[in-house]
Amino acid sequence: MGSVCSNYLNNFSMKNILITGGAGFIGSHVVRLFVNKYPEYRIINLDALTYAGNLANLKDIEDKTNYTFVKADICDFDKMCSLMQEYDIDGVIHLAAESHVDRSIKDPFTFARTNVMGTLSLLQAARQHWNGNWEGKRFYHISTDEVYGALELDKPEGSAPYGSEFFLETTKYNPHSPYSASKAGSDHFVRAYHDTYGMPTLVTNCSNNYGPYQFPEKLIPLFINNIRHGKPLPVYGKGENVRDWLYVVDHARAIDVIFHQGKTGDTYNIGGFNEWKNIDIVKVVIKTVDRLLGNPEGTSEKLITYVTDRAGHDLRYAIDSTKLKNELGWEPSLQFEEGIEKTVRWYLDNQEWMDNITSGVYEKYYEDMYKNR
Ligand code: NAD
Ligand code: TYD
Repeated sequence: MGSVCSNYLNNFSMKNILITGGAGFIGSHVVRLFVNKYPEYRIINLDALTYAGNLANLKDIEDKTNYTFVKADICDFDKMCSLMQEYDIDGVIHLAAESHVDRSIKDPFTFARTNVMGTLSLLQAARQHWNGNWEGKRFYHISTDEVYGALELDKPEGSAPYGSEFFLETTKYNPHSPYSASKAGSDHFVRAYHDTYGMPTLVTNCSNNYGPYQFPEKLIPLFINNIRHGKPLPVYGKGENVRDWLYVVDHARAIDVIFHQGKTGDTYNIGGFNEWKNIDIVKVVIKTVDRLLGNPEGTSEKLITYVTDRAGHDLRYAIDSTKLKNELGWEPSLQFEEGIEKTVRWYLDNQEWMDNITSGVYEKYYEDMYKNR
């Protein structure tokens, strides 16, 4: 890791860190980790509390003295400027975004607004506040592997990997969905602020996350909840698409390492070399939920329902995170079997959290989303 990293760590005490999107799925794990691990930092969680933001995700740390919550929209540039001043922000970890591909297909404008314009608003507010004094400053943007496009499934039989190619940090961007296009746009702006103004930026591109507190529109929590209620499990197309899954706490650990030790201006891929075909992951989830609920094995397999495929559905994502391992020593801490067991248990033990989210407006959205499939 070398002296640059340890110097940076030494210089980085008593700082004010702005985490955006901290009431969401990944953001809440990052906020929790930073608040507990760095009592010397002041952590400001900025979140607009859209449908995906939920302060119940942070109940266990909300009273900590080094934690502050601010409800604000990253697109509100004047507000971003005043918050930068008010809290004298030194570091930004930017997770706030619209994050669901299916929603982006229905409503691309909201994705361009939040993900592109919101990121630009935050970058410009940070630039104005830091005013060319980059010492001890960092702007860390959290992105996705989906910006790289889709890989071939050229080894579809047997076990993973399902193809010979992987996404590298040097892979050319080729986004297909409005979501990934908007994330690509935001990544380009972050790099432009480094190259044009010299801002110390970092970008990471991570694979699919799973774990506690994920909004139940995403595959794993949606299916756990549907199994619990005996509802259909809508598998898109033939269920042959491949995703590379990482336990969310391991993503948060990677963000910690990269925020403190990453080389500014650089990009790191984050992933666990853990590829699964959708239909196989669905079967693992069914098996785990049935076992933990005391159902005979295979009970819920009948809920699998093949539905019309997602438009532009990327076939395969697979991240190569060797650079992160070699340069900064990060590796996932959990095997997938352990992670999925922990995840299913968490959702079954926290049914109130799930029920609060899945009542009312969300139920209506979900019905509309699937009625034409
Ligand atoms: P999420 O949808 O669970 O949370 C997003 C959070 O951002 C919510 O709390 C929401 O209220 C907040 N937000 C949305 N618009 C906002 C705005 N205009 N101003 C302020 N706050 C706003 O998303 P997530 O899954 O936790 O993803 C977090 C980040 O990580 C995103 O940038 C996403 O692109 C990226 N990412 C996600 C995954 C994944 O598998 N979930 C994988 C790689 C990268
Ligand atoms: P998702 O969790 O939406 O993440 P992403 O689209 O960002 O990869 O979906 C994961 C995979 O599961 C993706 O290939 C789409 C598929 N999927 C289904 O088959 N059915 C569903 O109901 C959902 C939400 C996703």
